[in-house]
Amino acid sequence: MTIILAHADPAVAKVAAEVRLLTLAENSGHDWGHVVRVTRLAETLADIENAVGTVVTLAALLHDIDDRKQTGDPSTEVGLPNARSIMARAGIDPETVSEVCKAIEGIGFRKSLLNGPPTGLEARILSDADMLDAIGAVGIARAFAYGATRGRPMFDPDVFPMSGFTAEQYDGEFGTTINHFFEKLLTIRGRMLTEAGRWEAHDRHRVLIRFLDEFLNESGAPLEWIDLLNRYRPGSVDELP
Ligand code: ADP
Ligand code: NI
Repeated sequence: MTIILAHADPAVAKVAAEVRLLTLAENSGHDWGHVVRVTRLAETLADIENAVGTVVTLAALLHDIDDRKQTGDPSTEVGLPNARSIMARAGIDPETVSEVCKAIEGIGFRKSLLNGPPTGLEARILSDADMLDAIGAVGIARAFAYGATRGRPMFDPDVFPMSGFTAEQYDGEFGTTINHFFEKLLTIRGRMLTEAGRWEAHDRHRVLIRFLDEFLNESGAPLEWIDLLNRYRPGSVDELP
């Protein structure tokens, strides 16, 4: 059994059990496996950064439950009705509920394009943990799994990535899965908000670079693609962002 389901605090275990049932059949990149990995990562970062453990654990468990991709309704991202009712059913105290909601409301790639990155410690940890799960080996697998659910091509050498896109364009259905690496995944290393997150992102970023080197080589991609990738190599002078 996943450790989180046997959490020492029965209220947290209850939240975990409910989130598991709600996310088992997810195919938007926010399935139970993602929740478990983000919770583990967030707890590790919280230990290093001396954050409030219960808030971080609950926020990680519930961070995607009101996401528009999961509910199909953008308005749930503001009030977090699902997170609130799950915590109420589990008997979480109101002060913790409000801390957890504050952390969840501050995170998300699209939200930080609109509002800038979150500033509270628990939100920064949650943001780092969530983004770390989009890079490294798991991140690669998630990107292709997501692309498949949207019927996207893996790669087209004639379609180059966009740069500096807006939150609206980010929501749109466009591009190839390899372009998603250039448009988002290779920039995640520079978006870490904690020191512990930066260390972990460094290793996972290298996994992305190694993978893309091989993928572009096997695909016979033109030199422009290698030039593009060179911009994201660790130590590159014009590494973005
Ligand atoms: P976040 O929780 O940071 O908002 P998303 O919901 O955008 O993340 O993405 C969830 C997962 O799906 C991530 O692993 C992300 O890389 C992947 N994903 C999102 N958009 C695309 C895309 N256009 N192509 C491939 N993978 C994607
Ligand atoms: Ni997430």
